[in-house]
Amino acid sequence: MRRPIVAANWKMHLGRVDQALALVRRIRLPLGRVEGVDVVLCPPFTVLASLAEVIGSKGVALGAQNMHWDDHGAQTGEISPSMLVGLCRYVIIGHSERRASGGSAESDGAVNRKVISALTHGLTPIICVGEDAARNEAGETDVFVGGQVRAALDGLSADDVGRVVLAYEPIWAIGTGRSATPAAANRTIALAVRGTIALGFGEAVAGAVRVQYGGSVNAQNIAGFMAMPEIDGALVGGASLQPEFVDLVTRAVAAR
Ligand code: 13P
Repeated sequence: MRRPIVAANWKMHLGRVDQALALVRRIRLPLGRVEGVDVVLCPPFTVLASLAEVIGSKGVALGAQNMHWDDHGAQTGEISPSMLVGLCRYVIIGHSERRASGGSAESDGAVNRKVISALTHGLTPIICVGEDAARNEAGETDVFVGGQVRAALDGLSADDVGRVVLAYEPIWAIGTGRSATPAAANRTIALAVRGTIALGFGEAVAGAVRVQYGGSVNAQNIAGFMAMPEIDGALVGGASLQPEFVDLVTRAVAAR
């Protein structure tokens, strides 16, 4: 049985300590009381250290939104995995908003290097994959998403694959209010995500990996996704910026 995991991707919001603390002080205790789910808050880097001081170990964990693969170096503005260790347990890697403008720093190869580096440092990568509207309409979703999954996990051991989290986020569903249907997301996760992992690492590994859906998830529609057998949680953007995120997490668990 895969343990559900719901992650909040704050993106470039609530990045001042007073803003971040205002939300976290309201949601921290109720989130910690929800049992049977891993909850991860991924705020901007600027508030990670402050939140690490107020988030206890119980129930709620922290994640970063990106990292470089190197430990240190002449990389102006970058954050390394060794800087994150001790501050957070998770790190989002390969989000489509970064892939869209990141060039070679966010290529499939770069995503793979970041995944390997995160695992080496004991961080859990939340690896984002997903097709844009044109590929979706052209019927290329499975081939494209499968290719992203294969590239991200290239060279990993089966043990390592068992430690990652994947997030299927169709780009056309992000921030649009137009989520994928639970059935369509379930199908893509089964075929393109787990199917690709099964080919490379075996059925047992594919069946054990946790896979989230992301893209316009909110407290109203989360139950539909969680009721799907292949979907283990959600990566939530806009709906994670309000105290109602607690309702979303509560309903996620109830629908399981
Ligand atoms: P929204 O929930 O705002 O659509 O964002 C999804 C997302 O990109 C999470 O990483």
